[in-house]
Amino acid sequence: MPNIKDVRYVKFRVSDLRKQQQFLHDFGLHTNIDNGVLVARGTDTSPYIYLAEEGPTPAFVSVGFLADSEAQLREIAAMDGVAVTENPLEGGGLIAQLTDPNGFTVDVVANIAAAAPLAVADRSGFNQGDAKQRLGERVAFSQTDCFIKRLGHVVLMVNNFATTLEWYQRRFGLLVSDEIVMQQDGQEQTLGAFTRCNRGADYVDHHTLFLINGGQAEFNHAAFEVANWDVLMQSHYQLKKAGYTHSFGVGKHILGSQTFDYWKDPDNFMLEHFTDGDLFNESFGSHKRSPADLLGTHWGPDGIPGQ
Ligand SMILES: [Fe+2]
Repeated sequence: MPNIKDVRYVKFRVSDLRKQQQFLHDFGLHTNIDNGVLVARGTDTSPYIYLAEEGPTPAFVSVGFLADSEAQLREIAAMDGVAVTENPLEGGGLIAQLTDPNGFTVDVVANIAAAAPLAVADRSGFNQGDAKQRLGERVAFSQTDCFIKRLGHVVLMVNNFATTLEWYQRRFGLLVSDEIVMQQDGQEQTLGAFTRCNRGADYVDHHTLFLINGGQAEFNHAAFEVANWDVLMQSHYQLKKAGYTHSFGVGKHILGSQTFDYWKDPDNFMLEHFTDGDLFNESFGSHKRSPADLLGTHWGPDGIPGQ
């Protein structure tokens, strides 16, 4: 079965490219506009993790996954009989564009040249109750405009849940981390599934793609990993002061353990900051968990993002 390394980017059509660029900058991404394309990256070496073009109707355009190799990209493309073409964006490489059972465009890329990493926001050690790391010094922060590290996961609401999950698993080798199940009329109903990449013994995020059995096809959110807890909180207050629309948080999920903070961009698409998420490898297996686990938090507000 083919395999992917990770999710790489999300692409949108936005109503105002300049306004979106300002938001993304304030959200912690490094941005530029090149030939009418808003290109945003984090401090990791992917040359872009967010792309946007301007258009009259804002829309989620596609999600991009990184194939394990060119051979695997070609194997995935062949499954759907789609072409593998040169990728015209910075970093080049190859791209195939698939369409999932919901009509979402799913890009698969390979051989994209790495960009030079950017300086990472850092801080001196934590003084926890019984684990003091900072002795004889004041706390110190290294500041940077770009405090997002990488794109961590994408969440899609889908029709035909079982068909859709199987579609993604067959092409990308995704493993189910936690399936959300509830009993209804004596039957087990699946509300969604958190899926992760299969990197064997290597540790990966608890989820790269979360599919919600929602009875409709709709982008839910994209989540960006920030450098640390301090920049997550610092950004929370800066975005609030700048008048952006807050959605949900700050809190800590039960499933995945991310410390989260959800925001709405100028076109009302939900984007998340997270840090301190769980990492698992193949041996973690697959688990069934309840809706209460999905909606609950270790700490934070009640409810769900986007309400
Ligand atoms: Fe999330």
